[in-house]
Amino acid sequence: MEPLLEVTGLHVEFRTRDGVAKVLNGVDYAVDAGETLAVLGESGSGKSVTANTIMGILETPPGVVTAGSVRYRGEDLLTASPERRRELRGENIAMIFQDALSALNPVFTVGFQIGEQLRTRRGMSRRDAERRAVELLDLVGIPAAKQRVRDHPHQFSGGMRQRVMIAMSLALDPDVLIADEPTTALDVTVQAQIMDLLAEIQADRHMGLILITHDLGVVAEVADRIAVMYAGRIVENADVHALYANPCHPYTRSLLESIPRVDTKGSELRAIKGLPPNLTRIPPGCPFHPRCPMARDVCHEVVPPLEVLPGPRSSACLFAEELVIR
Ligand SMILES: Nc1ncnc2c1ncn2[C@@H]1O[C@H](COP(=O)(O)OP(=O)(O)O)[C@@H](O)[C@H]1O
Ligand code: SF4
Ligand SMILES: [Mg+2]
Repeated sequence: MEPLLEVTGLHVEFRTRDGVAKVLNGVDYAVDAGETLAVLGESGSGKSVTANTIMGILETPPGVVTAGSVRYRGEDLLTASPERRRELRGENIAMIFQDALSALNPVFTVGFQIGEQLRTRRGMSRRDAERRAVELLDLVGIPAAKQRVRDHPHQFSGGMRQRVMIAMSLALDPDVLIADEPTTALDVTVQAQIMDLLAEIQADRHMGLILITHDLGVVAEVADRIAVMYAGRIVENADVHALYANPCHPYTRSLLESIPRVDTKGSELRAIKGLPPNLTRIPPGCPFHPRCPMARDVCHEVVPPLEVLPGPRSSACLFAEELVIR
């Protein structure tokens, strides 16, 4: 059976005056109904560009898809007409963004904004749309939803605004939800609450959830699988427990070692040495080799393919087999 949403060999470049940045260099991942896939990687690794390409909101130009496919229930979205893409957006695939304040319109009430798609795409009356907006606000845990539906975005706290965004994304009942760093702007307690809410909604509606983050700690409890991204490629993809117990790519190992732990609170976060590559000049061979503690001569020449290991899981390291604990 085909996956609900599948990205295969996706390549995206940004052509700017400063040169061609090869931002995505063959992204492969898939999410099934009822599954939460966390996409994890340092800032600049291409997580948002992948999400925007799936949604059909890649800024073109300067962004250009040069290869690959995005399939929703088998249908290739990259070759679909703009009308078809608009139809799918919100209705089948929806997205929530990091910054709810700039994603929401300050001028209109939250109820009006949640109801907008219901009015324009479902032909609902203003009253029915508002009634449905109240239900949705209630669903995402906003107290006194009936009163608050007529409030404006600035009257909500950061966490509550993010809940409004989630309500808005659910209005048309999508079966794929992409959440791009939905909790980054929030404090730790609120982060956990929003994560719990997303996990609950995902399970109730049997959605495929793509949860983008740069924080491995945040997703540990809600993800089924984790796809680790580096320089525009997936370097490891595994079940969340397998990934924690036995990371099979040196980059994933470094990420795990850099998580601040509760028992070492106050001590310094162990950052990964070096910087991600400049995407206009990605080093030859394995793009991670300048930072890799395991790098050997061959790593400077051979680009490691994402290969399947027993599990099933996959790793794009030439020496992944050596990392597998049997
Ligand atoms: N509109 C744009 N023009 C030029 N470069 C861009 C644009 N959008 C993103 N990029 C570049 O693409 C790379 C990946 O960005 P992004 O997907 O946003 O990373 P992240 O993993 O942090 O979400 C970055 O190097 C970024 O500078
Ligand atoms: S291929 Fe080489 S450089 Fe790349 S992650 Fe594996 S050991 Fe490190
Ligand atoms: Mg991003």
